[in-house]
Amino acid sequence: MRTPLIAGNWKMNGSLGLVESFGQAFSRARLPAGVEVALMVPFPYLGAVVDTLAATPVAVGAQTLSDRPSGAFTGEVSGGMLTELGARYVLVGHSERRSLFHEDDEAVLARVRAALSCGLVPVLCLGETLEEREAERTEAVVLGQLEAVLDALSPEERERLVIAYEPVWAIGTGRTATPQQAQAVHAAIRDRLERYAGSLAHGLRILYGGSMNANNAAELLAQPDIDGGLVGGASLKVDDFLAICQSAG
Ligand code: G3H
Repeated sequence: MRTPLIAGNWKMNGSLGLVESFGQAFSRARLPAGVEVALMVPFPYLGAVVDTLAATPVAVGAQTLSDRPSGAFTGEVSGGMLTELGARYVLVGHSERRSLFHEDDEAVLARVRAALSCGLVPVLCLGETLEEREAERTEAVVLGQLEAVLDALSPEERERLVIAYEPVWAIGTGRTATPQQAQAVHAAIRDRLERYAGSLAHGLRILYGGSMNANNAAELLAQPDIDGGLVGGASLKVDDFLAICQSAG
């Protein structure tokens, strides 16, 4: 079966002090067997997190990357730089990137390609707004975002992704999708993966994100098509994040 993945996304939060607290807590913690844990941190903390968590099983990731390998692109960070620092994962298409930084499906695909070309695992984020949900367009939006990337990749490239379903209305709002609402969309995503290949549908991990916390994680993670979490706010509190990791075991 699929290995659950609990990924924390610090967004533009954190400090070297928080890196140190995570290092101390995770070097003492006993993570459940068979659960993978990752932390997606701001670029400046990547090196420190890799070093501080080196003796733990926690993987490290970034929150975005450039679609170019190098060059005169002031302020950008390439996938090659991320792998050189020890990153394994990179978020692509997070709703904050889509809405605040105008990354459309084409830009998302370019970043997925850039990540794959550097050996990074892209965590492809999908999700509908409240308006889209209320207009009963959830599946059309989410599956459209999925197909915009999958259609352009080779079968081998598709197998290297992680998917994250994050309803935009649940992000940072404290309003979590119910386990039934989340499971329904995850099942629709898996059903669509089946059209590409049975192995893709069985193998790809689909994470849920959106106000996941220590109290609601277990019930969400118990759903058959939810293979982990992409945790924002609760990943900034080491005890809460550890509790979420424990509930995935
Ligand atoms: O990447 C994480 C998601 O945007 C969820 O954030 O847990 O603060 O709602 P949140």
